[in-house]
Formats: sequence, structure tokens, C-alpha cells
Amino acid sequence: MKEKAMICAQDVHFRYLPEMPFAVDGVNMQIQKGEFVAVLGANGCGKSTLSKHFNAILLPEKGTVLVEEMDTRQEEHLYDIRQKVGMVFQNPDNQIVATVVEEDVAFALENLGVPPAEIRSRIDEAMDMAGIAKHKHKAPHKLSGGQKQRVAIAGVIAMRPDCLILDEATAMLDPIGREKVMKTIRHLNKDFGITVVAITHYMEEAAQADRIVVMNKGKVVLEGTPKEVFSQVDLLHSLRLDVPQATELAQQLRAAGLDMPKDCITEEECAQALAKLLA
Ligand SMILES: Nc1ncnc2c1ncn2[C@@H]1O[C@H](COP(=O)(O)OP(=O)(O)OP(=O)(O)O)[C@@H](O)[C@H]1O
Ligand SMILES: [Mg+2]
Repeated sequence: MKEKAMICAQDVHFRYLPEMPFAVDGVNMQIQKGEFVAVLGANGCGKSTLSKHFNAILLPEKGTVLVEEMDTRQEEHLYDIRQKVGMVFQNPDNQIVATVVEEDVAFALENLGVPPAEIRSRIDEAMDMAGIAKHKHKAPHKLSGGQKQRVAIAGVIAMRPDCLILDEATAMLDPIGREKVMKTIRHLNKDFGITVVAITHYMEEAAQADRIVVMNKGKVVLEGTPKEVFSQVDLLHSLRLDVPQATELAQQLRAAGLDMPKDCITEEECAQALAKLLA
């Protein structure tokens, strides 16, 4: 039997008001279990609006969103969908509710009436997975942005979701915080099989995904592995998007006549290609 897709969006249309253009304009997208998908696109192209359909915060005006084959429009699935698909947003301060880290991680579980002994084991596990166990007795407001964001991730992980949606979860962080959050996300994906959908404006982050989906004006315009997507430098630039610095450098060296590969996406690959040329 074929495994159910984690998320399946079919011809999804959504607009905020009837007189407005569609913010999501006929999107088809399948996210398989265990995948790490990055979503790219210029400001206002509909990334956040689409992602809010993935746990029924928004419902399509036309088309369908299925979460493990459950239609988000059917209210009886709402609880299961929200439990399966967790969301982490941009601003860590807006996501923290308690004055002690472990209480914050426990917050949603307490509201759901999970028994105390189970809460204890789940939050310990979640704090370990998010790499913040050593801060569990601290006040969240004393933590760095990256640490706070990992507290928010732990709070979502404690719900034992199958899928994590990150809407620019690293955008407000410094480079070190960003790298640590990315490392946590990769760990959750690779070691625990949690499906990840990461909306980002950082191309180096998107380069770490299994697959990239590029949106423009409410539509999916390009899709493929990071190497496939980032080899389309001109198309991405025309969509007001960057490529990883390594890709940009390789492209400029190619333009200057050097025989650099088109699919360099990491610094390491770029350095290796250069070393080969110099040898
Ligand atoms: N609550 C809202 N009410 C009305 N219009 C909205 C609302 N939220 C978003 N929009 C509009 O819908 C369109 C898509 O916005 P959305 O926030 O989904 O884009 P985005 O790709 O996430 O952008 P960004 O990269 O800036 O986060 C934009 O034109 C935006 O102005
Ligand atoms: Mg957004």
C-alpha cells in the first residue's frame, strides 16, 4: 500500500477578501512523510497564507488540503490535524507564554489535559530533542533569540507532531542562533523522521532541504532538488530571489570564462571545484 502523503494541497485557492486577488492561486503540492521541504518566494507571494492551510488555520476557498488524507474542511478532523502539524513562527517572543522554560514547553499539554506523569516525560524528551534541556529552569526572557526559538520548537515537539511547519523561524536570529535552530530542525527531520516544511528567505538554509518549492504571486513556479532549483540563477533573480553565495560565485566565475559547475550550492562544493581548476 502506498503511504499517505503528509500534506496534499490540490488546486488550493484563497483570498482574504472577495475583492482582493488570490493570495494563494491554484497551488498543487505534495509533501511526503519524512521530507524536508523549503518554500521560497518574494515578500507577499503567499507562502505564509499557504502554510496556514497546512494545519487548518485557514481553509481553502476552492480546492482541497489533505493532512494524512484528512480534509482540513471537516471539523471532526481539526483536533487530529492540529496535533499532527505544528507551527513555529518568526517572533520567539510572541510564542512564549510562561516564566520558566519547562513550564512553557508544558503549556499546550496542560491545556489538553494530558496526565502530569506523561507531561513530565514528554517535555523532558522534547527539551532534549530541541537541545534546550540544560536551560529548563531558566526564565525564557533571559535566553538568546535562538534559544527562545528552540523553546518554541520544544513546545511544539511535546505535542508529538508528525510535521513541523516553520514560517521564517530563523528570520529574527543572529547567525549563531540561526545555525543552532537549523541544526535542531535537521536533527528532528533526520533522526526522528519528522516532516519539515521551512519557509525561509535564507538560501543557505533552503540548500539543506531535500526539495525546494518556489512561489510567485500565489503560484508554484519552480520545484526540485536544491541543485536543480539553484541552477536556475536567472529565473530566481527574475523572481527577486537570491541563490546561495557559493552558487553566485560559481556563476560569476563561469561568466568570466572559468569552467565551474552549474550545481555548486555549498561553499565546500565551490571550493572543491575551484581547487580542481587550479590543479
Ligand atoms: N491578514 C491579511 N489580510 C489581508 N491580506 C493579507 C493578510 N495576510 C496577508 N495578506 C496579503 O496576502 C498576500 C500574501 O501574503 P503572505 O503573508 O501569505 O505572503 P508571504 O509570501 O508569506 O510574504 P512574506 O515573505 O512577506 O512573509 C499579500 O498580498 C499580503 O498582503
Ligand atoms: Mg510570510
